[in-house]
Amino acid sequence: MAAGDPLQLKHAARRGNRYRTPEGLLERPRPDLDPDTRPKSPSMAVHFTDCNSHVPQSPLTSSSGTPLRVLITAGPTWEPVDEVRFLGNRSSGRLGAQMAVAATQRGLPTTLLRGPATADPTPDPLLTEQRFHTASELDAALHLAWPNHDILIMAAAVADHRPIRDPEAPRKIRRSTGEFTIRTEPVPDLLEGLAKVPHGGTRIGFALEPADELARNAREKLQRKGLAAIVANPLETMDADVIDGVLIDADGREQSPGEGPIEKTAFAVWLIDRVIDLHGRRRSAIDE
Ligand code: CTP
Repeated sequence: MAAGDPLQLKHAARRGNRYRTPEGLLERPRPDLDPDTRPKSPSMAVHFTDCNSHVPQSPLTSSSGTPLRVLITAGPTWEPVDEVRFLGNRSSGRLGAQMAVAATQRGLPTTLLRGPATADPTPDPLLTEQRFHTASELDAALHLAWPNHDILIMAAAVADHRPIRDPEAPRKIRRSTGEFTIRTEPVPDLLEGLAKVPHGGTRIGFALEPADELARNAREKLQRKGLAAIVANPLETMDADVIDGVLIDADGREQSPGEGPIEKTAFAVWLIDRVIDLHGRRRSAIDE
């Protein structure tokens, strides 16, 4: 662990090592978007689209003055073993659903691609939902949706491996089959694949890692997948009500909502505001 690495120190603290975060290393939440100035309803969001004579430089609008469109993926993938069973994971999709709600509460049209057995987000006229089961279905949905969005937040827990299906195999594997082996193949990295799609938008990934490898592996994934930022969070986050996440951006800046785990609902609101802010800064850098 690098000496003074704030991310590692933060998670070392959760394991019982008492420390004080060096002042300024972990940024505190900022009132960067005055709640009173945010569009809270579709009607206010429409107000921006009507102002074509003077395109407002709001962090909530695209360069054409329309509200930013947010694409969020959430939940597990289920990869079939036969027509009855699947290989899945414990992702609940709760954080993704809460981020979708937080984005619509900012007045942003939001698409949620939602995996099986995940939490229902609160219905909202600004929210569009689409379901997926397998990584292939999610990949197809992403390639259709991403060109029409400004921000992608990839919170889905996509399979790393899936069973190789033998077309000759029985539709249902039976007990009488006796011992059998499931052979798997790697699933392509969907987020990395989207880096090849020409797009000026902001892609945000997640890195779910053991606490002692969190910082190093999250930074490696951030670079390899060509992301604007990555949310580094320890394995304990999966299927929990709380999260202890840190947002690391491509400039190496680390931000966290505070020390220790917080409710996913609060984290979702915090993260959406950070991501809107990050998208605005990247857009300003391009415009300069
Ligand atoms: N991801 C993806 N496609 C995959 C696997 C993961 O797009 N086949 C995305 C996840 O949605 C997440 C990010 O990549 O935003 C990191 O996922 P994670 O499971 O932490 O890492 P992996 O890239 O799968 O790498 P590893 O298996 O080494 O942990």
